[in-house]
Amino acid sequence: MTRPSLRLRYHQGTTAHVSSIYPFSVQGSFGHRGTYVGLDLLAGGGEFCWDPFEAYAAGLVTNPNGWVLGEPGNGKSALVKCLLWRQAAIYGTGPDGRWVGIADPKGEYATLAEHLGFTTVKLSPGGTATINPLAPGPAAEHEPEDRQILRRAEMCTALVGTVLERPLTQLEDAAVFAAIEQVTAAPLDEPTLADVARLVANPTDAMTERLRGTDRDLAAEMSTIAYALDKLLSRSLRGMFDGRSTVPLRWDGPGVVMDLSAVPTDSDALPLVMVAAAGWFQQLMACPGPQRVQVLDEAWALLANRHTAAYLQSCFKLGRTYGVANLCITHRASDLVAQADDGTATSKIAAGLLADSATKIILRQAPDQLDAAVAHFGLTGPEASIVGQLTRGRALWKLGGRTAVVQHVLGPGEQPIVDTDARMNGTTDRTEAA
Ligand SMILES: Nc1ncnc2c1ncn2[C@@H]1O[C@H](COP(=O)(O)OP(=O)(O)O)[C@@H](O)[C@H]1O
Ligand SMILES: [Mg+2]
Repeated sequence: MTRPSLRLRYHQGTTAHVSSIYPFSVQGSFGHRGTYVGLDLLAGGGEFCWDPFEAYAAGLVTNPNGWVLGEPGNGKSALVKCLLWRQAAIYGTGPDGRWVGIADPKGEYATLAEHLGFTTVKLSPGGTATINPLAPGPAAEHEPEDRQILRRAEMCTALVGTVLERPLTQLEDAAVFAAIEQVTAAPLDEPTLADVARLVANPTDAMTERLRGTDRDLAAEMSTIAYALDKLLSRSLRGMFDGRSTVPLRWDGPGVVMDLSAVPTDSDALPLVMVAAAGWFQQLMACPGPQRVQVLDEAWALLANRHTAAYLQSCFKLGRTYGVANLCITHRASDLVAQADDGTATSKIAAGLLADSATKIILRQAPDQLDAAVAHFGLTGPEASIVGQLTRGRALWKLGGRTAVVQHVLGPGEQPIVDTDARMNGTTDRTEAA
């Protein structure tokens, strides 16, 4: 006797319908707005599109910042490069499109820069390119002077605190602020960090007058700051940030790549260089203009200590004011837990930064990192097990309260832009060190 069987007619539908037929296993699409990323594996393999500003405008997220996390070699940078490449095609570049600033510690954005006409600035200690993070950029016309002073002082405090490996005392902090205030007010057309160092070493009467008022030893405290700035300018940052800019930069161009590959990845100088580089970007970010994207690849270098982490936090705050989408790329969830001795303070800042990144893109994490990923990224058990099994190019996306698993699809012409394997086999292999 043959068993009765149920025969259904063949039916073809869209992913929107599939999600209503299988409501608990297939979710609806995130929509078509933004740049194409790849396949949405939780929506039946439909297209997945994303753009930080579109997602914000659609109310999907509460801010345009994104955090990309993943073990080296899983395609974090490739994803970001493709997003930038594709967004240029959709939204355009320059004043009528988008402006992009990239901090590139491995020197791997050169091909993308060439294709999109970005200016590449290659910084190396003692090299020929100098950029001046205190140069008044286009922001000078739009920003009240006290905001400019605050921004510059925050950068200097991060630099000095990192060199001293401790928070600045109140008086030291006030000294940095007073020096910045003085150089900003001075009739210099372009104050430099060297001017600040000179002023701290030989404070004017007005500065001394202002800073007195405590019985602390003013001269001793000022000399500590002078020592830190001197160390910074004569060693770690030598030739890179201590003078006037030697790089011709079109503020109205499509973007800038700051190639930091000559600064050793594991050196103490890298976080300092990244702070100064981000300080330079801010000259452009802090004024009205096109939508901007700031990419901080290998951003773990900025999470290495409390001062640079706090500086990153101030970049995020500024981003909110001026419409900048920050994209930070790091390796391990444990990068977010401080490696520094002031552990809790730094991890609190990192937690704040993550909370300020409404889009979280998590590529594969090693098994020993999963607990930290759960803690920092608020993953559920099943999400954590997906993260442990992801393959190259595949990521778990957390967009506001929603989740997607996306396979990033590379176009045939995009391979040269994203290929970092050539470097893996090349002579200057920095990927291993990272
Ligand atoms: N979606 C993808 N499909 C195919 N290859 C990819 C994909 N994403 C990355 N790759 C390749 O993997 C290599 C490593 O990617 P990369 O972005 O440099 O990794 P990460 O930044 O995570 O260290 C690159 O050579 C790139 O060509
Ligand atoms: Mg990378």
